Amino acid sequence: MSKIILIGFMGCGKSTVAHELAKVKSVPLYEMDTEILKRSEYPDMATLFQAKGEICLREWEIRLAKEWSHLSEGVVSCGGGVVLNKIILDYLRQNGGAVFFLNASFEVLKQRVSLDPTPRPLFQKEDEAYALYTLRKPLYIAYSDHIIDVEGRSTSDSIQHIISLSKR
Ligand code: S3P
Repeated sequence: MSKIILIGFMGCGKSTVAHELAKVKSVPLYEMDTEILKRSEYPDMATLFQAKGEICLREWEIRLAKEWSHLSEGVVSCGGGVVLNKIILDYLRQNGGAVFFLNASFEVLKQRVSLDPTPRPLFQKEDEAYALYTLRKPLYIAYSDHIIDVEGRSTSDSIQHIISLSKR
């Protein structure tokens, strides 16, 4: 298995799938948000946004993707906004990587986000989040090699699907 890169809107389950997948395949896990918060020393994304603004997060994402372009194996879980800068997925794909878009409807994403304690500064107002979703969805599709419909599917089922597609 080479590099598996997970993208998708907030609440689609990138982090959960990435953790499980890395465990099942015994490969390293690379989580963008976690790494950015560790390095920037902000406790969560809401605090980072408040102190530095969204642009700072986007710069971090680009820097990290450049650094991780050298990786040849592992599971990379991206923040929901990586498709805003095409260079990020271009970097991550280097050295052999396939991009999987975890797809779900806005209704399901909204419900999942409401049950998740992770602070999400860009999912505060439903209408604004929906506007982001409609703007980004074509980008997730355009930048992915495979689309995984996660709605109504268990985590282990999504993982098996990703594994079988990545073997082809
Ligand atoms: C963002 C998604 C978040 C995090 C930040 C911005 C976005 O990651 O990177 O709050 O722009 O969609 P998750 O998709 O893991 O929630």
